[in-house]
Amino acid sequence: MAEKVKVLLSEEEVDARIQAIGEQISKDYEGKQVHLICVLKGGSFFMCELAKRITVPVSLDFMSVSSYGSETKSSGVVRIVKDLDEPILGKDVLVVEDIVDSGRTLSYLLEMLKDRGPKSLRLCTLLDKPDRRVTDVHVDYTGFQIPDEFVVGYGLDYDQRYRNLPYIGVVSFE
Ligand code: IMP
Ligand code: MG
Repeated sequence: MAEKVKVLLSEEEVDARIQAIGEQISKDYEGKQVHLICVLKGGSFFMCELAKRITVPVSLDFMSVSSYGSETKSSGVVRIVKDLDEPILGKDVLVVEDIVDSGRTLSYLLEMLKDRGPKSLRLCTLLDKPDRRVTDVHVDYTGFQIPDEFVVGYGLDYDQRYRNLPYIGVVSFE
């Protein structure tokens, strides 16, 4: 079965949106240092592009999680595969994600990070599928709201492939 990827959001559209979010974050964190937390692997491409466009001081850390449950339905219980290198106590933390889908992973992760005592904790996601939400998650910065379709590119994978596409595409099978 051949896979085809159709462009949903072009490289130019994504770049322009990341530039705008970067400017907004730079304004909102004026006079502060923002500590970006990338949720691997999907958030990595977005975080690098975003970080380049933020003009206030930036520090970075990475975390990798996997959710317990079946392939298709995350249980909401998250296992930390790779924890942060540094404490976040007293820091202005901005979690950077590729996509918020059901919201289960993020709501668990945010609760866990909140317990570590950051000065502030916000969430930035490149993509949001609001129709799929089952757990309430407050998103502070959203790149694009998209319909309920399976997307790849810009860090998002299908079976670990397509993360490197410089645009967001929808996979179809023929
Ligand atoms: P949830 O919000 O807990 O359901 O999980 C979100 C995670 O599922 C994301 O971080 C992605 O890794 C993955 N995911 C959800 N929707 C898509 C998609 O359309 N393409 C690729 N991965 C997705
Ligand atoms: Mg992810």
